[in-house]
Amino acid sequence: MNIQENISLKDYNTFGIDVKAKFFVEITGLVQLQKALELKAYPKKFIISGGSNMLLTNDIDALVMHINLKGITVVEEDEKTVEVKAMAGENWHKLVMWSLNQGYGGLENLSLIPGNVGTAPIQNIGAYGVELKDVFVSCAAMNVETGELVGFDNKACEFGYRNSIFKNEAKEKYIITSVVLKLTKKDHVLHTGYGSIENELKDRGIVHPTIKDISDAVIAIRKSKLPDPKEIGNSGSFFKNPIISKKAFDKFSKSHPDAPFYEVDENQYKIPAGWLIEQCGFKGKRVGDAGVHEKQALVLVNYGNATGKEILNLSKKIQEEVKKNFKLKIQPEVNIIK
Ligand code: EPU
Repeated sequence: MNIQENISLKDYNTFGIDVKAKFFVEITGLVQLQKALELKAYPKKFIISGGSNMLLTNDIDALVMHINLKGITVVEEDEKTVEVKAMAGENWHKLVMWSLNQGYGGLENLSLIPGNVGTAPIQNIGAYGVELKDVFVSCAAMNVETGELVGFDNKACEFGYRNSIFKNEAKEKYIITSVVLKLTKKDHVLHTGYGSIENELKDRGIVHPTIKDISDAVIAIRKSKLPDPKEIGNSGSFFKNPIISKKAFDKFSKSHPDAPFYEVDENQYKIPAGWLIEQCGFKGKRVGDAGVHEKQALVLVNYGNATGKEILNLSKKIQEEVKKNFKLKIQPEVNIIK
């Protein structure tokens, strides 16, 4: 096993934070993963995959295992549907493009989300009216203590808004190694209801969109307001949109009648954190190399050499101001590694 020392993780996290891994190993096979977990000489292990949902605030004093398991295969199919198994280290958007090229529907709204397949279930990635849970069949995960591979079906993952068992009871206990998704081969179920998709399709003069049209529209929308991590370091939405009760919402909307909102169900409302942050005057703000994106205030950015601590400090300031001005708590969506 090729264990390297003092490796910069700058290229392994989409925020582009330059911290060092004391030890580092590339994982390309399941047996190798099991063996690496058993290494007694490195009692502390840290898993990194696409690095698209983490803020690294310190050097990592552990064996950093970069999950680079590859492969996309069809495991089952009938006339109408297909089950696709993708290994954890596959790039998410590459999987979306692969499925569209095969004519498989279900992932088009989730185009261009940064990160890898293996981390998609952890936060139940979602965009434009679709969440991973809508197409998710199961995943395989390795128990870090025993090296045993365990299956989690959709129900066992306990998916919620940007949430799953892997952020709760199963946190740090498993490494997701592969995911199985159920996609459609025909009679695709299109999700065009999200406002900006509808408008984008209208602007393009498309009345009967294909799955490819929807993907193209989503890519155009995302490119117009979300920074490309290859150009400006970021982790997508830094905060979750706060969900509040109907009672709290009624009070909130009386004092802020112009605030956008989504109805989650009849008792719960979601307020876009991006709007709250913009109202507090942070949109486009920059403190050194840490900043708030100029087109989407929910996204914190690293203009080059920001440290994780600088971004964390900015995020705390934002939380305080939102609390002060709106009496609402916003929580990070990104996993903060202390
Ligand atoms: N808004 C502002 N100012 C801003 C940003 C947003 O006023 O700076 C307002 C918009 O005008 C709109 C509302 O907030 O009325 C919602 O904005 P948007 O449609 O951009 O969606 P969002 O709620 O800010 C969520 C997800 C995104 C996902 C989009 C589209 C979360 C935390 N974020 O953002 O996910 O792409 O919806 O579905 O739920 C991600 O998780 O990394 C991510 C980018």
